[in-house]
Amino acid sequence: MKVRLGTIIAVVAMCITCGVETAVFAGNDLARNIVRGEKCAWFKDARFGMFIHWGIYSIPGNGEWSYAVDKYAPGEYEANANIFNPTNYNPREWAKLAKAAGMKYAVLTSRHHDGFCMFDSRFTDYKITNSPYGRDAVREFLEAFRAEGLKVGLYHSLPDWTHPGYADTESPECIAGGRKEPHVPTPEQYASFTNLVYNHINQLTTEYGKLDLLFLDYTSRTKADIDYFGRDAILEMVYRNQPGIIVNDRLAYFKDNCRDFDYYTPEICVPNQPQQVKGREVAWETCATMNDNWGYCRADENWKTSEAVIAGLVGCVSKNGNLLLNVGPTEKGSIPAGAVNILKALADWYAVNGESVTGCGKSEFTPPHGCVYTQRGQTLYCHFLQSPLGDTILPQLKGKIEKTVLLRTGEPVELIDHWGFELLKPDEQRIRTRAIRPGDVVKIELK
Ligand code: GLC
Repeated sequence: MKVRLGTIIAVVAMCITCGVETAVFAGNDLARNIVRGEKCAWFKDARFGMFIHWGIYSIPGNGEWSYAVDKYAPGEYEANANIFNPTNYNPREWAKLAKAAGMKYAVLTSRHHDGFCMFDSRFTDYKITNSPYGRDAVREFLEAFRAEGLKVGLYHSLPDWTHPGYADTESPECIAGGRKEPHVPTPEQYASFTNLVYNHINQLTTEYGKLDLLFLDYTSRTKADIDYFGRDAILEMVYRNQPGIIVNDRLAYFKDNCRDFDYYTPEICVPNQPQQVKGREVAWETCATMNDNWGYCRADENWKTSEAVIAGLVGCVSKNGNLLLNVGPTEKGSIPAGAVNILKALADWYAVNGESVTGCGKSEFTPPHGCVYTQRGQTLYCHFLQSPLGDTILPQLKGKIEKTVLLRTGEPVELIDHWGFELLKPDEQRIRTRAIRPGDVVKIELK
């Protein structure tokens, strides 16, 4: 058995190098999952990333679905490409904000459902390099974030509302907006659509250097039972071009009746438990907005509190997951002030408490009331989502604590062993937490 597993690992390692993982191991889930485990290691350590929804939809400024939900005359929306000139675009600044906030990777929309390319596509003229801006925003993003030491990925839309080959029947907003009639494309139109998706992803994974991650979005409910986008051909091409890349799960709607993906993507929520697919725990990341929109929305000032974002982040980590937190830059290329404020608050928090996130995961212990635990080895981090009523009772930890420290002050947190334990369970440990504020973290070294 030992020999067989060793052989598998060696062969798989060879195949990663050669970039033929999917071809050789088609149907071999065990081998694929060994490869997957290694490829996802950085991702599971990273825990926190920046999502960037940016395109010509930032000009109308009503979110990235503007094309579908707002009423445009034919060609009117597309004309935004002729005036797109984000002269404030400074991806190095974005990368610095992300890095200071504790983010270890970033994912930019190379193209959203409106079909506009933020890169120098070789397959369409509907692209940023034909706009007044004239530069390749994707390339500049990748270079800037890599230079700051962050891992980089691209979000690429599978749907294309502007392409006659995309059967646009699943978007009620699109239809209600009167923008398009649902239609069934001809076989030629459909082939041209799937070719464009394939060609764009092929270009992005061959001409832009090493990509750490690819976020493909999305397969709708109405396409759940068919492989609309040509899943295997896309994945085999991507893994051939970029042997180390990890790819998300949205090439399929139902996850249980198709191949495994590298990681899974719930949205704008903290799941209650580590995510499982086919009974196996999987790598996952929840993506979330800071207000109520992904793309820039001028009218949306409904910013979440930094406490809510921190609680969401540590909530994900406590379930072995990541948070991909979104910003929606303006048409000039600036991150809105509301988002910058949250990122700066996160940076202050991370500077003190970052060790409780990066490289951490689910704890084996049950957290006390109002708290979330993250853990790395023998170090437990108790996150206070709210100020405690007074002392805090730690289940299961009596006799197990070597040392405590409140990360914000560097001071130890007192273990209370002389009173107030009449009604405690024998394994519960009372600690003095009266000075604690929301967002505080108590580090607990276990014996
Ligand atoms: C949904 C939205 C899309 C957004 C994505 C982020 O799929 O339709 O606009 O980009 O979520 O995960």
